[in-house]
Amino acid sequence: MLKKQKRTSGDFTEAEVAQHWDDNADLWAEHVRQGWDSYREHLNNPAFLKFIGNLKGKTVLDAGCGEGYNTRIFARMGARMTGVDVSLRMIEHASREEQRESLGIRYETASFADLSGFDGESFDAVVSTMALMDGPDYEKAIAEIYRVLRKNSDFFFSISHPCFMTEGFGWVTDRENKQLLTVGGYFGKRHWMECWRFSQIPEEIRKDLPLFAIPRFPRTLSEYINPLLQTGFMLKKISEPRPSESDCRKYPYLRKWRDSGAIFLHVHCVKV
Ligand SMILES: C[S@@+](CC[C@H](N)C(=O)[O-])C[C@H]1O[C@@H](n2cnc3c(N)ncnc32)[C@H](O)[C@@H]1O
Repeated sequence: MLKKQKRTSGDFTEAEVAQHWDDNADLWAEHVRQGWDSYREHLNNPAFLKFIGNLKGKTVLDAGCGEGYNTRIFARMGARMTGVDVSLRMIEHASREEQRESLGIRYETASFADLSGFDGESFDAVVSTMALMDGPDYEKAIAEIYRVLRKNSDFFFSISHPCFMTEGFGWVTDRENKQLLTVGGYFGKRHWMECWRFSQIPEEIRKDLPLFAIPRFPRTLSEYINPLLQTGFMLKKISEPRPSESDCRKYPYLRKWRDSGAIFLHVHCVKV
């Protein structure tokens, strides 16, 4: 289920973003922990974990950590994790889980566009999963992440693929019953609101559930990549995870993402 709401009155501020994610947080934490974020489980996380390699022994910042699902995965890999998120409610969920089962993770409520609570050059790596597209000030976030990274250190992030996950994103069915992706508004500047729920939630639970409301900030591929280069990062690799044939047979809902376009973009750069 996906609904788009036109934003008619100006831009979303960071405070509004935090408020929306506070409102999303309880349901988000519950559903992610149930394993209902199936694109994360079956496509994005397996590809991203391969992409980032070994974080063992490193001091790592998770920028936009949400309720900490992936932060805990990185901690279990042996990384010393700090997670920041702009949503207080998300950080409350993450901290409660840390109290229940400690993995030595430190959580702070903070924006990735203002990491002034952290000294320069204090992390061996920064990771960010599906969060940098959700903040209004990407360029400031990149500058802050650069500042807190040590020299020759890695920055890995995943985002919704900016070329395909546009305001005009949708599906049409062709004569052979094949689903084709539609794209539109790629160069749009207006912020908009996307309302959806995880698509693989069991039918009997799904029908009465509220939708997440997520502020969207359209950016082109160059608007994601150029600020990295202008800030001083060296781009090492980008990746567009594509489901394998065997994954498509196992999880048929992935098939359209093998045939039509990429849902995620993974980026690796280094502070040189
Ligand atoms: C799609 S969720 C992803 C959360 C987590 N990384 C994960 O993979 O489960 C996006 C997160 O980005 C956070 N976020 C949005 N803008 C932010 C900002 N300026 N600074 C820090 N976090 C932000 C939201 O509060 C939300 O928790």
